[in-house]
Amino acid sequence: MASTARGSFLAVVRQNIPLCREHFRLVLELEHFPQTSPGQFVQLSCRDVSLASDVGEEFESTDKRRPQLQAEELTRPVAMLRRPFSLAGRRDRGSNTEIDIIHRVVGIGTDFLAHLKEDDEVGVLGPLGNKFTLPKENQEAILVGGGVGIPPMLYLAEKLSGKRAVAFAGALTRDLLPLTIVDPEARGLDDIRALSDIAEFAKHGVRSVITTDDGIYGFRGFVTQALERYLDEAKPNAVIYTCGPEPMMKRVADIALARGIECQIAVERAMACGMGTCQSCCIKVKKPDPNQPPLVGRDWCYRLACTDGPVFRASDLLW
Ligand SMILES: Cc1cc2nc3c(=O)[nH]c(=O)nc-3n(C[C@H](O)[C@H](O)[C@H](O)COP(=O)(O)OP(=O)(O)OC[C@H]3O[C@@H](n4cnc5c(N)ncnc54)[C@H](O)[C@@H]3O)c2cc1C
Ligand code: FES
Repeated sequence: MASTARGSFLAVVRQNIPLCREHFRLVLELEHFPQTSPGQFVQLSCRDVSLASDVGEEFESTDKRRPQLQAEELTRPVAMLRRPFSLAGRRDRGSNTEIDIIHRVVGIGTDFLAHLKEDDEVGVLGPLGNKFTLPKENQEAILVGGGVGIPPMLYLAEKLSGKRAVAFAGALTRDLLPLTIVDPEARGLDDIRALSDIAEFAKHGVRSVITTDDGIYGFRGFVTQALERYLDEAKPNAVIYTCGPEPMMKRVADIALARGIECQIAVERAMACGMGTCQSCCIKVKKPDPNQPPLVGRDWCYRLACTDGPVFRASDLLW
């Protein structure tokens, strides 16, 4: 039976296909993977698993015993630390689980992932972090994903089947949208209609609005501009979920707070360990009670994006 604990797993690559110019969908199969929820993430080992000795050995260096660095580690850059990726979907078959990761190639770790082939093995640590809180019965869920913030929105859409929901997906340009658009002629430059033309959302009954900064497809402008217009026209009783570049999420937070709309934000701070040890991912938040520890500031403190988050309420974040 699936548990909620995190663990270290060896996954097998079932699929790794390009979705657009820089994004790939990586499907990993694992055995006995714990239960997961939208908002959670995993840390992937972005290096050959046959080179990755266990962590204790990697950093041990005493007079008697030196680190066993192997040829590849000495001759070219290798991602020593695991890299964090949101869960973009999950399917269970008996004790086996498939998870979807959508990754954009930006450096050595993601470049390694892009070259994985079927049946290759990948080290997975997870599931990690907290989760989105699903909407109340009378609320419309508004999902706002920008660029590499779109993947967690796809997993969230899975759990929103049958509920009122609309997704906003934005990117710089059309071929940076890691999505299947089923009717590419249907939209105009000023179009914020929620349609069923993103297959990954539509299969869960979630309509969507597409924006590109250059206007090559969908609404021309930022996803936040389309969101603002939608909220002002539809005036929904809503909860907003968002993930993407930090300036985009800050703007979404401002838009939501100005209208008194609840907003949950999945932050993507750079993370080294992903499990509360290294303190690399701290983020400033409001402290509900000034007399309670930690006593860093009277009305603020730091939280860890990896274990206290990645999902935070917009009203709590001081960024
Ligand atoms: C909780 C979480 C979930 C994530 N989910 C996804 C996902 O679903 N899909 C996806 O493609 N990416 C996701 N990311 C970002 C992903 O982890 C980074 O892109 C990845 O670590 C880059 O590794 P790399 O070795 O390829 O690049 P590196 O060589 O390590 O870095 C390349 C460049 O990217 C910058 N960079 C690295 N990480 C981040 C970051 N977190 N924020 C801003 N800039 C960064 C570096 O400063 C550098 O300029 C997520 C990050 C977090 C924290
Ligand atoms: S990533 Fe190490 S403490 Fe958060």
